[in-house]
Amino acid sequence: MNKAPMEVPAETTVDRATGPSPFLRRQHQAVVGLTKRERFLNACHCRPVDHPPVWLMRQAGRVLPEYRALKEKYSFLQLVQTPELAVEVTLQPIRRFDFDAAILFSDILVVPEAMGQGYHFRESGGVGMDFAIRSAADVDRLSTGDIVEKLEYVTRAIRLLKTELDGRTALLGFAGSPWTLANFMLDGGSAKEHMKALALFRNDRRLFESLCHKLTAAIIEFLRMQISAGVDAVQIFDSHGGLLPSNDFQAASGVWIREIIAALADRLPVIVFSKGTRDWNTLAKTGAHVIGVDHEVTLRDVRESVRDDIALQGNLHPGRLIHDTPFMIQEETQRLLAEMGGRKGYIFNLGHGVPPAARLENIQMVVDTVRNFA
Ligand code: CP3
Repeated sequence: MNKAPMEVPAETTVDRATGPSPFLRRQHQAVVGLTKRERFLNACHCRPVDHPPVWLMRQAGRVLPEYRALKEKYSFLQLVQTPELAVEVTLQPIRRFDFDAAILFSDILVVPEAMGQGYHFRESGGVGMDFAIRSAADVDRLSTGDIVEKLEYVTRAIRLLKTELDGRTALLGFAGSPWTLANFMLDGGSAKEHMKALALFRNDRRLFESLCHKLTAAIIEFLRMQISAGVDAVQIFDSHGGLLPSNDFQAASGVWIREIIAALADRLPVIVFSKGTRDWNTLAKTGAHVIGVDHEVTLRDVRESVRDDIALQGNLHPGRLIHDTPFMIQEETQRLLAEMGGRKGYIFNLGHGVPPAARLENIQMVVDTVRNFA
């Protein structure tokens, strides 16, 4: 075969002077010219990439001056419920940092709201639900009908985003897990210590299950709608998974996540982020294509315990974005990349959301370091 020099498109890690990076060589396959969307999807499917894709949980929001400027004029709920504004907030971090994936600006609490339990922001911080679920009658009153109609603003935002992103950047949809949503719904909002969901799980399993059953049905509808509107992957936020002793995780959270993923029938990759959950086998059994790893564990350990055909995502400590210098961020990012070097299924992220006080130059450094990883 005639080995004519290959046209190297703009997005590539192949340096003409030094050849492919060691990362790329380790992958045994030259992968050049990937769009950010392709890079992200390849990593989700454990296919070769030039370098790992990068996005950050809570990349849209309070850390950005341009978000704060919008918040002067609009409330959080207005931003979430007005498709044009949700699109703008979703795109702000993409314009500034050019992440491989955009995550739809919304909230996990839109699902309880569509079921009849609204939410608001407390003056003192955190979110409040308009009332707390206290009885079987409260669960009965929650509606699983017309979820798609009630959350039409999300469909419209996704459609607009697909046009804006034009196939270049991946678009992530998301939902909260039934367990995590149940915590907010039973405690009536943010709580110092969420305890009611675990108490209900222990003391009235039937009522707990009927609540999670309804939530599961609503979340399936909601995610199917996001898929039809065009998202490339979805993340299930099980942010309160770590409240569960590992013996209880499967029955209280894992089964519902598994049911949701099964209902999506491999139509697209599903990322499961269960903060504080350490039972990788149980997480893998949910059918997750990607497992999100928080910053309390070592990626190397997780990597050794998770099958090679499941991708991993994580896990820079979010606090470092506030306190470290850009140089320290560069070193830590490189350390994590080296720890995962050669694993095809790896998506760079934080171990939890971007803190509002993060330094923007540190976020930029994360992106630059991942992009230039060699
Ligand atoms: O990641 C992104 O950039 C997309 C947007 C997004 C938000 N919330 C916006 C938001 C996503 C994916 C979420 C998910 C979410 N919401 C979770 C799971 C992720 C996690 O952090 O564990 C949870 C538990 C919620 C519920 C929620 N939303 C709470 C408890 C609060 C108040 C506390 C807080 O962090 O401010 C919110 C508000 C919220 N959701 C904000 C943003 C940008 C802050 C609103 C503001 O002050 O402008």
